[in-house]
Amino acid sequence: MKIAFVVGARPQFIKLAPFCQRKELLRNTIIIHTGQHFDKEMSDLFFNELNIPEPNYYLGINSGNHGEQTGKMLIALESMITKELPDFIIVFGDTNTTLAGALVGSKLHIPVIHIEAGLRSFNKKMPEEINRIVADHISDYLFVPTKTALNNLKKENLSSKSYLTGDIMVDSLKMVIKKVRRLETYSKYSLTKNNYYLLTLHRPYNVDNPLNLIKILTELNKLGDKILFPVHPRTLKVIEDNSISIPPNIVLVKPVGYFDFINLLSNCKKIITDSGGVQKEAYILEKICITLRSETEWIETVESGWNLLVNPYTNEDYHEKIKKFLPPFNHPPIFGDDVTNKMVEIINNIEG
Ligand code: UD1
Ligand code: UDP
Repeated sequence: MKIAFVVGARPQFIKLAPFCQRKELLRNTIIIHTGQHFDKEMSDLFFNELNIPEPNYYLGINSGNHGEQTGKMLIALESMITKELPDFIIVFGDTNTTLAGALVGSKLHIPVIHIEAGLRSFNKKMPEEINRIVADHISDYLFVPTKTALNNLKKENLSSKSYLTGDIMVDSLKMVIKKVRRLETYSKYSLTKNNYYLLTLHRPYNVDNPLNLIKILTELNKLGDKILFPVHPRTLKVIEDNSISIPPNIVLVKPVGYFDFINLLSNCKKIITDSGGVQKEAYILEKICITLRSETEWIETVESGWNLLVNPYTNEDYHEKIKKFLPPFNHPPIFGDDVTNKMVEIINNIEG
């Protein structure tokens, strides 16, 4: 069985990693990196620390608007997949890389597996929402992380090709957690355990308009404690292009590797984010999360009381809400367990 993994963005490298531990899978696997994320801290770092083999193909497609970026990926992927003729293509999540991989596979009649299927924000202004809807409809097998996601797929008549597997990031975390517990990454930044906030921001609606970004940073600065902010390149570009001055409590650093990030997350007071993956990791690590968005695909984390949605555009003085938000007593399982094994078993059964 020959599998082609199509990846390109930071969270996809993290989701690919558990499969790379399965040596029997790797014997006949190709990894195609579209190049969507390309900085050392957004790409190579993850391949190195998570022992992901060098990509067989690196497409270097990292510029342009959505159409241009996706179009270039389609052209390059089509010729590669036609040459390699894998039995399956596996795509993850909801980026432009996901969309391109799924589209090429379905046009070439190569079965596509979409991992992290069924997520919906019901906000079509997000590029990810378009990508995931299309990917779910054209893929052949949908690996679904949560019951809510499965319900979403049922409503779109896609349940016959859906498998509730749990979330692959459970296994990504499990791979690293022992080593992470031995680290004290926060001390590198002169921070102490449970005494700082951790912040990540990269959604276009929060960062592309410098005035929005300044408003968010100014509000968060009122929390009073130090806020460590490993800054996404998209966000850094806006900060630099507009010479935004960073408020004094916010410590801006380059994006960090997965081990360091999980250590920083495990030891922070609260995490403030607009990331998808980070909301899940916070839940799994039993860490309070504040999501600076008006909606989330990971609705169970909100319903369980561990994740507070705060729309930074309709809330005033929301630093008070962030301060007061406390965890509940219960922590029901949401994301499943032993996920890679379940996925591999399904793939083997399809093959057989
Ligand atoms: C992309 C995904 C988003 C995902 C995020 C994960 C799409 C439409 N968006 O958003 O769903 O949550 O990745 O982080 O696919 N850049 C660099 N260096 C890098 C990476 C990006 O300078 O290593 C720059 C790009 O050149 C571009 C900007 O950052 O100017 C945005 O990158 P892009 O990949 O288009 O979107 P993300 O915001 O990273
Ligand atoms: N992450 C990381 N270093 C950082 C910030 C995030 O390793 O400096 C990891 C984080 O642990 C999570 C993933 O990157 O697994 C989330 O990626 P991102 O927020 O870019 O994308 P999203 O999940 O929103 O698509």
